[in-house]
Amino acid sequence: MPRKLVVANWKMHGNLASNKQLLEAYIQKITPINNIDVVVCVPYPYLAQAQSMLQNTNIAWGAQNISKDAVGAYTGEVSAVMLKDFGARYVIIGHSERATAYCESDENIATKFAQAKAHGIIPILCVGETLIEREAGVMQMVVGKQLDTIINTYGAGVFANAVVSYEPIWAIGTGLAASSDQAQSMHEFIRGKVAVLDKSAAASLKILYGGSVNPQNAVQLFVMQDIDGGLIGKCSLNAQEFEGICRAAT
Ligand code: PGA
Repeated sequence: MPRKLVVANWKMHGNLASNKQLLEAYIQKITPINNIDVVVCVPYPYLAQAQSMLQNTNIAWGAQNISKDAVGAYTGEVSAVMLKDFGARYVIIGHSERATAYCESDENIATKFAQAKAHGIIPILCVGETLIEREAGVMQMVVGKQLDTIINTYGAGVFANAVVSYEPIWAIGTGLAASSDQAQSMHEFIRGKVAVLDKSAAASLKILYGGSVNPQNAVQLFVMQDIDGGLIGKCSLNAQEFEGICRAAT
């Protein structure tokens, strides 16, 4: 069975002192779990802190966004190369909280995905539908279009060794996770869509589920065939809950 991947998304939480405590608790509770991969995506200012505390552990670190450009006069932006300077191995791309608040288009997100890949950072591409879209039964069309923007520009091969996180918008931070059947069916659709074009890319693609994962519902989700792990928001801010989720992935 492929190793599961569990990613903490701290969002805009924490400070130097609280991060120190949380990372120490991660190191104590999570580093002994050695048959899964664990990543923590921190706000930019804390990349150096994550690097210095995690560099000799089996927990990787990453960021929550990157610029679509490599370098230049882009005030406030952070490039993939800068993330590499701090040893970041992963970056979240196109999270719906950003896409909505900062009007990120699918095209913009596709360029960021390619930037990350070009610089050897593993992109964690977030896709997902709204509640209205799910109720209208068009969720696969919506997610399919998000993937098509990348496939049409860069080809399906770009998904080799990448990560897609299925994050139904109605499940993020609401306490209302997708059922394991709902998630599995979307994950199967995502893998199938890539597989039709590039079988080996589809096989090496990790597909995470994100949206109100907690230690109680994690096992049911993680046992599904196409669910390769989770992207964890709220519960990643509590080391004990995050540990519970990581253990559910073993
Ligand atoms: P949540 O966030 O676990 O708090 O629902 C998930 C996410 O936004 O990735």
